[in-house]
Amino acid sequence: MNILAPSILAADFSKLGEQIGQAGAAGAQYLHIDVMDGVFVPSISFGMPVVRTIRKCTDLFFDVHLMIEKPERYVSEFAECGADLINFHLEATEDVPNVIEKIRSLNKKVGVTMKPATPVKEVEPYLKLVDMVLVMTVEPGFGGQELMPACLEKVRDLRQILSDRGLDSVDVEVDGGINENNLGQVLAAGANVIVSGSSVFQNDIDANVKKFLNIMKQTAAEGK
Ligand code: DX5
Ligand code: ZN
Repeated sequence: MNILAPSILAADFSKLGEQIGQAGAAGAQYLHIDVMDGVFVPSISFGMPVVRTIRKCTDLFFDVHLMIEKPERYVSEFAECGADLINFHLEATEDVPNVIEKIRSLNKKVGVTMKPATPVKEVEPYLKLVDMVLVMTVEPGFGGQELMPACLEKVRDLRQILSDRGLDSVDVEVDGGINENNLGQVLAAGANVIVSGSSVFQNDIDANVKKFLNIMKQTAAEGK
């Protein structure tokens, strides 16, 4: 299934609850929540108190993207404050299976995330163990960047490998620089969970979400 996951990093934080409500009412199914620690990535965003607060104002599925060093230190706290799925970076831990296991034991969905320079073969050993692979289409750390077309090649390869292994139910999420002009290409490459920050939360949120969802519906109907 094709899913839209607006990233609140681009929202107006003084109206966060209201803007999340608008995205949900327009039909977005997930909320993408970017947690940055200032170490794994240069920037710092927000942490547990924000996730806990917004959990009270929406039933949307929380896709938490941890851009933090040694995510094993914090997965239980993010599970406790409202994550439904926890994405962590392959590059951020020395023990990927341990983090997967920890998230599973908390009864949350598991996603592994890859930076643009990380080859697909690095994620292959874990495909059987996860619900999602998040392929970054920009360097993680900031919203509003341009999508790197070379990353779509990775999405294509990954989809092929998943299909060869009978793992079609694993979601492939893409994150960074996705807009209504390149969405068709991203879907055609095999992504089915689409993160978008600045293209959703700028100007008319309702219209932006609907535009994305229409393209996604149309592409699914064309069987791409
Ligand atoms: C970047 C974040 C993204 C970002 C996407 O490190 O992981 O989720 O918010 O924002 P846009 O859609 O503006 O590239
Ligand atoms: Zn993200």
